[in-house]
Amino acid sequence: MKVMVIGSGGREHAMVWKLSQSSLCSKVYAAPGNPGMAPAERIQPPRSDPESFLRIAQEREVDLTVVGPEAPLVDGVVDLFQARGRRIVGPTARAAQLEGSKVFAKRFMERAGVPTARFLVFDSAEEACQSAGAFGFPAVLKADGLAAGKGVIIAGDDREAAEALQRLPKGRVLVEECLTGEEVSFIAFCDGDTAIPFEPTQDHKRVFDDDRGPNTGGMGAYCDPRILSDEDRRRVMDRIIQPTLDQMRREGAPFTGFLYAGLMMTADGPKALEFNVRLGDPEAQPLMYRMKSDFLATLAEGAPMEWRPDPAVCVVLAAAGYPGTPRTGDPITGIDACGATVFHAGTRAGANGLVTGGGRVLGVTASGPDLPSAIANTYAAVEKIHFEGMHYRRDIGRKGLRRW
Ligand code: AMP
Ligand code: GLY
Repeated sequence: MKVMVIGSGGREHAMVWKLSQSSLCSKVYAAPGNPGMAPAERIQPPRSDPESFLRIAQEREVDLTVVGPEAPLVDGVVDLFQARGRRIVGPTARAAQLEGSKVFAKRFMERAGVPTARFLVFDSAEEACQSAGAFGFPAVLKADGLAAGKGVIIAGDDREAAEALQRLPKGRVLVEECLTGEEVSFIAFCDGDTAIPFEPTQDHKRVFDDDRGPNTGGMGAYCDPRILSDEDRRRVMDRIIQPTLDQMRREGAPFTGFLYAGLMMTADGPKALEFNVRLGDPEAQPLMYRMKSDFLATLAEGAPMEWRPDPAVCVVLAAAGYPGTPRTGDPITGIDACGATVFHAGTRAGANGLVTGGGRVLGVTASGPDLPSAIANTYAAVEKIHFEGMHYRRDIGRKGLRRW
């Protein structure tokens, strides 16, 4: 099969890396991809719109396309491919509203009976301001639309809430009850009716150690079977994933592709914080790394997934300035001899070699027979890589150590 991956980050590099190991795979295209993605052939679409991706798939006779980021999904790339009889993994634009609008997602969870934080919806930040403390403080304030993981603010009191609300993008605002517990990323591959779960992962969204500082797209993740017990996995499938698929089908928008539930494991059991309609990034990196079975066989034929027992850890190396505007163009050294698998995210080819080209630059990924050694192996590799202004968290996976 000829396969195309849409996107250019660490998640897409990890998928390209895994798919190209499949015995079913004859060729991988990446649109537009990044410099780390050999042996994939990179193709720069003229624009990032569904028509441009379709044209590439038609011209190269691509058998199966996999979509990495949410934007093309929300723009209807799956609808267009399906209308033209081309196979593609992902939800339709309507189903992608689960991620595209937080208000849609929360009202949907209510209809589906999916456990989630209590919430109120307001048409503007000014209106939300009056009721920021409706569920007490700290309060969670969220912008409705896509905000690249940066549209959520946790405010400690009325004054903080008023300040924070001014910084949110214009449009509808959610005020939510603040849940406590451990966060888990739970992703399932869905065919509209049923779901095959991936192993649980944990992301690290804040920029600094101990979950301090502003939110980012994700500073690192690990994939460890001990994150959730079998009983908790069953609960998540029975109370969150399956009811979501059933309700989507009832509403005439069956969900196909990757359904990602951001969970809070509360004292009352798992609750959904949010949905994404794609693999997480960086979660996809330790997931692809730990997956033993043929990923393409799962995507193309619904084959069950199998996993290596060893936990995997991915540490994101970020550029100076990230999560604000990152500095770019700095030479990167040490990747080849670092001893780990390094997924590229924000890199580009400079005149004299690889340079930084985005906020999250690399995802350094390794494993070990237990979580402590997986963490140690990953950080040993991190220390061999260098670029000016590089920063990273030193505590990726630390929350999981108490389970070992
Ligand atoms: P989201 O974009 O909805 O995933 O939110 C980003 C982050 O904000 C989450 O990963 C949580 O750490 C936090 N968060 C979101 N909603 C809540 C909530 N209701 N209670 C506590 N933390 C939350
Ligand atoms: N790592 C969180 C996300 O992909 O949304």
